[in-house]
Amino acid sequence: MPSPIVDEFLLGGDFVSGEEIARKAGISRTAIFKRVRAMRKAGYVIEASKGRGYRLVPRFDGLLPLEIRMRSRSRQFGASIVVMDSGDSTQNHLRSLALSGAPEGTVVVALEQTSGKGRMGRSWSSPRGGLWFSLLLRPSLQLRDLPKLTLLFGVAVAEAVEELGVDVCLKWPNDLLVGGKKVCGILMETSAELDRVEYVLVGVGINANFLTTSLPEDVRSKSTTLSEALGKKIDRCGLIARILELSEELYREAQEDGFENVLNAWRSRSCTTGRNVTVMSFGNVLKGTAVGIDEDGSLLLETESGRVRVYSGDVIL
Ligand code: BTN
Repeated sequence: MPSPIVDEFLLGGDFVSGEEIARKAGISRTAIFKRVRAMRKAGYVIEASKGRGYRLVPRFDGLLPLEIRMRSRSRQFGASIVVMDSGDSTQNHLRSLALSGAPEGTVVVALEQTSGKGRMGRSWSSPRGGLWFSLLLRPSLQLRDLPKLTLLFGVAVAEAVEELGVDVCLKWPNDLLVGGKKVCGILMETSAELDRVEYVLVGVGINANFLTTSLPEDVRSKSTTLSEALGKKIDRCGLIARILELSEELYREAQEDGFENVLNAWRSRSCTTGRNVTVMSFGNVLKGTAVGIDEDGSLLLETESGRVRVYSGDVIL
């Protein structure tokens, strides 16, 4: 019988003897052998050494669940990871997991999406090579805090991408731009009743290892990818692991102490503030100067008819 407990032993990345696994998990050596064989078939690289046992070796850019988990120090975010080779949208898959009671921190990754969803009802092109994933949250926050939660994920992704050596800035509410072109978009979908948030699906789409020529013509000139920016492929496994770590840290802190750090971190990366912008919000077109991000996460816009607050919309710089 396949035993997930074997997987847990291999998570540490060190050699673990078959004898130790057998003893601690209370399963036979044959069961372990069969599980290791199944894992190898699934794509894992597992070294076996006489006298030392088994060791899971993470591959560069490997996106299997244990490869991600062994790279991340997060506790709850990514404790359960589902990886789909191809799927319509990780948001849809995660929603059905959420409805069947999946815990906070559950992650769904797709190597490609056939109906990726963008903000404002748009589609999101998701070819192979990108990093497309959704994370389930069950926050104890009020509905009015959700715009700030959106900013939190922009900050976490920006920090992780900066660590790769890429200069990014944030366009309100949470587009990541490199050299003025979009490299990442974040979609938050919420299920709430009155003021109680039931769950939030945070969908992160990062143009990672592909050329913009794989994108539809209408978005191509406005987009870039991390591999184009760096001139080499990035390790998506390390990137998602780091995003999970950073966002979990910020999320815990925000729930305990508020969003001040998130707002400041967002503001320091803003490429919206100070610019003359056009904002499309629910069919309205607003023109003005973006003067900042308010404490509630809204965009403050100085227009001809005075200062307005924008809670949702698309900003054109
Ligand atoms: C945007 O419009 O900027 C948001 C794009 C969000 C795309 C991601 S990819 C993973 C997740 N699944 C989806 O279908 N959409 C989000």
